[in-house]
Amino acid sequence: MQVSKPTQSVTEIAADAVVVSLFKDEPLTGAAAEVDKAADGLIARLIESEEISAAEAAVTPLLAVAGVAAPQVVCVGLGKRDELDPGVAFRSAGAASRQLSGKQRGSVAFFLDADLETSLHEAAVAGAMAGCVGQDLYRAEKKRFPFESLQYSAAEEVLESGQALGRGVDLTRRLVNEPADKIYPETFAAQVREVASEFGLDCEVWGRDKLTEEKCGSLLAVARGSAKEPQLAMLHYRGGGDGPTLALVGKGVTFDSGGLSLKPSEGMKIMKCDMAGAATVLGAMRAIAALQIPVNVSAYMGLVENMTGADAYRLGDVLTARNGVTIEVHNTDAEGRLVLADALTVASEAKPARIIDLATLTGACVVALGENVAGLMTNDQAWCDEVAASARSVGEKVWQLPMYDEFDDQIKSKVADIKNTGDGRWGGAMTAAKLLERFVDEIPWTHIDIAGPAFAEKPLAWLDGGGTGALVRSLVEIARRFDN
Ligand code: BES
Ligand code: MN
Ligand code: ZN
Repeated sequence: MQVSKPTQSVTEIAADAVVVSLFKDEPLTGAAAEVDKAADGLIARLIESEEISAAEAAVTPLLAVAGVAAPQVVCVGLGKRDELDPGVAFRSAGAASRQLSGKQRGSVAFFLDADLETSLHEAAVAGAMAGCVGQDLYRAEKKRFPFESLQYSAAEEVLESGQALGRGVDLTRRLVNEPADKIYPETFAAQVREVASEFGLDCEVWGRDKLTEEKCGSLLAVARGSAKEPQLAMLHYRGGGDGPTLALVGKGVTFDSGGLSLKPSEGMKIMKCDMAGAATVLGAMRAIAALQIPVNVSAYMGLVENMTGADAYRLGDVLTARNGVTIEVHNTDAEGRLVLADALTVASEAKPARIIDLATLTGACVVALGENVAGLMTNDQAWCDEVAASARSVGEKVWQLPMYDEFDDQIKSKVADIKNTGDGRWGGAMTAAKLLERFVDEIPWTHIDIAGPAFAEKPLAWLDGGGTGALVRSLVEIARRFDN
């Protein structure tokens, strides 16, 4: 999708549609006021009669508006001005874009309130890009039609950075939306290599032999039931010279059948999404590299498929992880933590200053926080506070869960150092995090469980169903603030 700055005013531009924004309980401003003036007070009248809502992400299309060259004006609400954040901007622009994406359109021009801060425009550009891209990858009869050209009225640098975010989000969503017969460890690793070569990043991929040589016994065990070769993909962006490094670690289970602890069909059918952690990390790396943020970021993506083949790992098996910790398997569906264990060890060996991991790790986290909120768990409160502050500043929802010692007691095993589940089903998000904590070598670390927000089973007002790209913008913000 081509993104550029409009060269004509909102009333004159020869686009297929123009989008203007409204604040709740406020007089019209900017382009909305211009359209209103050209149309003799039409918008103000429709707001007065409550036909148009200025609530967040409320969309009202107006056809053939007098005095406007474009055949359609879409009014989108931004809600109350003092509640506006980049999340609202992303969702509202996304909702307008989604509204217009039901049929093919050559060009759509966004004229949101000109006074918005850079971070709001940036998020809106990304939202406008995301809103018109769908999950209908393999439908002959498409449901969503990305605009051929997206025009957005803002400074050139803002368009650049907004596009970098938008392309990162788009990459994450596309990888999540691809079915597991298309995106499996080796094809995912090929996508990592592609990002590396586009931006000149260092990239290394360990396959089965190398992983064996490197004693990644925990990750390898999960992969044993699959015909697909596991991969540990590593990507290094060095924009920060001799400065500290941020490590991003992602769970990349390209399909989670549950293994021998087989999932029922209902739960299994969306499990192509179980590589969303790795896809989020890759999408963020793409954006960070495109933005040339002056920071060092290394990504570690643990890529495996969890299947039930003849050599599948079994309940009761004892695995030896790379750092020597032995793990008794109580449930082969608690596989994500086993993959992350070795990926976190490899990341920790490089001595990064901070670690974040992202994973669609537990259904328990979705039970605790709902589908739109990511769970945070940490071994370092100050680092978790920074992660949470960054996420909230870009309007993404996160909430911290506790890491009491009693959750650690629950993963003790009679046979091995630890077992891969808690004692019962309660507190599952935290018992999972307690296992991960044993593999970060006391480096400040925050775990982000994205099992809820990474994948939308039903479409959202601003985004088609499927992969959401949640937390990509947060990771970029964390990188921007890192070491400052
Ligand atoms: N990939 C799942 C978690 C998940 C659930 C992601 C729903 C997205 C949506 C994970 O591997 C899993 O199966 N976790 C188990 C752990 C349990 C066996 C201890 C779970 O949450 O039930
Ligand atoms: Mn599982
Ligand atoms: Zn899983």
